[in-house]
Amino acid sequence: MVVTGQTHSNQASQFDLKGYLAVRQQQVETALDRAFPVVYPDKIYEAMRYSLFAGGKRLRPVLCLATCDLLGGTTDMAMPTACALEMIHTMSLIHDDLPAMDNDDYRRGKLTNHKVFGEAVAILAGDGLLAYAFEHIVEETKNVPSDRLIKVVSRLGRAVGAAGLVGGQVVDLDCEGKKDVSLDTLNFIHTHKTAALLEASVVSGGILAGGSDSDIQRLSRYAQAIGLAFQIVDDLLDITSTQEELGKSIGKDMNVEKATYPRLLGMEESRRQAEQLVESAKAEVAGFGEVAFPLMAIAEYITARKN
Ligand code: FPP
Ligand code: MG
Repeated sequence: MVVTGQTHSNQASQFDLKGYLAVRQQQVETALDRAFPVVYPDKIYEAMRYSLFAGGKRLRPVLCLATCDLLGGTTDMAMPTACALEMIHTMSLIHDDLPAMDNDDYRRGKLTNHKVFGEAVAILAGDGLLAYAFEHIVEETKNVPSDRLIKVVSRLGRAVGAAGLVGGQVVDLDCEGKKDVSLDTLNFIHTHKTAALLEASVVSGGILAGGSDSDIQRLSRYAQAIGLAFQIVDDLLDITSTQEELGKSIGKDMNVEKATYPRLLGMEESRRQAEQLVESAKAEVAGFGEVAFPLMAIAEYITARKN
């Protein structure tokens, strides 16, 4: 039988993603817990742990573990980087919720970090998580040649700095309340604020496993597509979901007159583009065969998710 990309795409839809995620998420939970014992000064470790264990889906770590696996690496090789990705993602959310940024009281159904620990400790908890993420990769990764580790640290630094998350957040804040935000600007915000870290998650797993340049480029295109789809779905959920389902305030984008995909393109077209991005993401990795089923199923889950 000739196995085409389409056949793989259909088979990937049957993949037990729920079971796969449950196993991976548990592995990440255990590793993160070990990485963060509470020591003196307890307050800052408790603040970091509060947000780190607030019920995140661990999507970035799972993506990193899945791509390392896909290219023949082991879970152990990728776990420190996987945990670091979650630390960075968590710190970005703690800072994003601060009064100086989005001024949010709830995240994942719980009070935001600064509401519980105060602004100063919340800022420091973010700083602590960010610094520890890089230390953790370098200190805890075993059995990976150091040239690969250097590449991972460099890609991750780029993804979080002004060329990535920070740059996207600055343009996002600049655009607040503006009525004439273009689609190009909106794409800039989200390729930097959201897609950059997802891309780093996917690509770092591939680098750790020793993937070729063309494998890494393929994974990068997959990740950029799911990153943008993820954001479009986020914008749609802000309109269609409930606070209980989402675990954070809804209708917020409307209230602050934020530029969003539904606002610029309409609901129908936004959903269509998200679905098209997911299809192109799946097509990028279909050629890897069955080992890519987790990545293909994760791409599908992004448009199907309810929170
Ligand atoms: C959520 O966006 C926020 C982000 C995806 C990242 C924001 C980035 C920063 C605060 C920069 C962090 C600094 C470093 C060094 C990484 P949102 O407000 O659109 O979504 P939400 O509704 O979940 O808050
Ligand atoms: Mg926010």
